[in-house]
Amino acid sequence: MLNIVVLVSGGGTNLQAIMDSIADGTVKNVTIKGVISNNRNAYALERAKLEGIAGECISPKDYPDRESFNEALLKGVESYNPDLVVLAGFLVAIPAKMIERYPNRIINIHPSLIPSFCGVGYYGLKVHEKALERGVKVTGATVHVVTEGLDEGPILAQKPVMVNDDDTPKTLQKRVMENAEWVILPEVINDIANGNIRL
Ligand code: GRF
Repeated sequence: MLNIVVLVSGGGTNLQAIMDSIADGTVKNVTIKGVISNNRNAYALERAKLEGIAGECISPKDYPDRESFNEALLKGVESYNPDLVVLAGFLVAIPAKMIERYPNRIINIHPSLIPSFCGVGYYGLKVHEKALERGVKVTGATVHVVTEGLDEGPILAQKPVMVNDDDTPKTLQKRVMENAEWVILPEVINDIANGNIRL
């Protein structure tokens, strides 16, 4: 059994895709032990609650400085004793101490084909605005291992999405989420849980 903890910040549609894939059996031998959000209003926490999964908010706003928040976040993750930490729309920088504690056992979903449109400032809708600005014909999503550098770790999976002439950032984001993110994140978790990917 692969025990995972999922870190979220927003709507939690990637978390929902993982939960749905476990429920319908396409993802096997995986248990979500907990969901942690830096944002107490994240609908992702509501999704966890509806699924009967432990959820909590660990917010930088509740700590006097970044160091004490980082420590609280690491303790929070450790409390679930995960085999794998999944960043699903998590918008807070992962502390170096967490990467040291879970070497090659933290994965992230990014809404572009890395190395395009990634790094500092590239998150959420911004990624799709830049893709449309550049005029790329193909974009997509990437699951990669989290390392010290932002969006620089080994790539585990990618899925392309064609850009339509009439796409807006929002229509493109929706299609990348539906057709790519929600597909490859559960797939990679399943592959790790069942020995098809060795981290
Ligand atoms: C979305 O922009 C998604 O592309 C990225 O994180 C954001 C929130 O996703 N991965 P979610 O709905 O909270 O999973």
